[in-house]
Amino acid sequence: MTFLVTGAAGFIGSYISQRLIEQNYRVIGVDNLNSYYDVQLKKDRLKYLKSSLFSFVQQDITDTKAMADIFSQGSIKKVVHLAAEAGVQHGSDQPELFINSNVVGFNNILENCRKHKIEHLVYASTAAVYGDNSDFPLSEKSNSDRPLTLYAATKKSNEVLAHSYAHLYRLTITGLRFFTVYGPWGRPDMALFKFVDKIINNSPIEIHNYGNHTRDLIYIDDLVDALLAILTKPTDTSQTMGHQIYNLGNQKAIQLMEMVHILEQKLGQSTAHVLLPLQSGEIKDNLADTTAFIERYGVKPQVQFEDGVDRFVKWYRDYYPSS
Ligand SMILES: NC(=O)c1ccc[n+]([C@@H]2O[C@H](COP(=O)([O-])OP(=O)(O)OC[C@H]3O[C@@H](n4cnc5c(N)ncnc54)[C@H](O)[C@@H]3O)[C@@H](O)[C@H]2O)c1
Repeated sequence: MTFLVTGAAGFIGSYISQRLIEQNYRVIGVDNLNSYYDVQLKKDRLKYLKSSLFSFVQQDITDTKAMADIFSQGSIKKVVHLAAEAGVQHGSDQPELFINSNVVGFNNILENCRKHKIEHLVYASTAAVYGDNSDFPLSEKSNSDRPLTLYAATKKSNEVLAHSYAHLYRLTITGLRFFTVYGPWGRPDMALFKFVDKIINNSPIEIHNYGNHTRDLIYIDDLVDALLAILTKPTDTSQTMGHQIYNLGNQKAIQLMEMVHILEQKLGQSTAHVLLPLQSGEIKDNLADTTAFIERYGVKPQVQFEDGVDRFVKWYRDYYPSS
């Protein structure tokens, strides 16, 4: 069985590619290696994917012809679509870039899934689609049509497009609303990574909303276990499952200031805190209701936040030995 993984050099894409290879699946990884954050980190993630079962194509998913060629060459059965412009704040500065990668690029994926009768397309949406909804815990039925950022709006449009493609062309498509994912090899633009980096380097950390907002964080291995449960479940090709959407989070929220204190305690050092108001487009709180996913796939997060932080800090110190 061959999987296509887009965003394969990214944080989540590199993990899921590795786990699929370990289970003896063939993986075609696509990524444009953009420079939104350190490209070396993306290349280093790819070094761990060296295997005869893995082939990498440096390609932008907005290139319609090139994507059609990739789908035509391989015997791709299932697609994991993770490539996206993912910086929440960065979107409002570069709307065209976000619309191209996240909407035009997604449409290329949908079209090729339709043409090549792909058994199952699994794609990343985001908890950001819930906007400032305070209907906690947020279930898939909670209102998600008032996104606060362009990033969230592009992801919501993915969900709407996926729904009509699944309906019109009898495709099986699963959209996943990831809450905040963290762990080794994580994204340097995300709060936990930035805080660890600044605390270790004794630089001031900027804490938005005066540290009051809360986030539901899921450890990368727990997220990948959930993805694998979906991808390795046999697909009944005699009937379509249509379009399903699931939350993937931890069903627990942690306050930003508490996160900073745990990180400082684990690192055995602290740094200056610069307390700032809530930024435009930032969500105050979120908390996932993952009952639907657990009932369907029977997989629950296992890693406690403090253990996940230990593993992240260990990786950070190994990867940046001079810090
Ligand atoms: N990490 C999280 O907490 C989180 C939360 C919610 C949703 N998500 C979603 O999960 C997916 C993966 O996120 P991640 O954290 O691994 O991000 P990431 O930025 O590490 O990975 C995304 C990868 O996609 C590639 N990419 C971007 N635009 C592309 C394009 N036009 N063509 C080809 N490649 C392109 C990037 O180079 C990058 O390597 C994204 O869709 C993101 O929106 C992530």
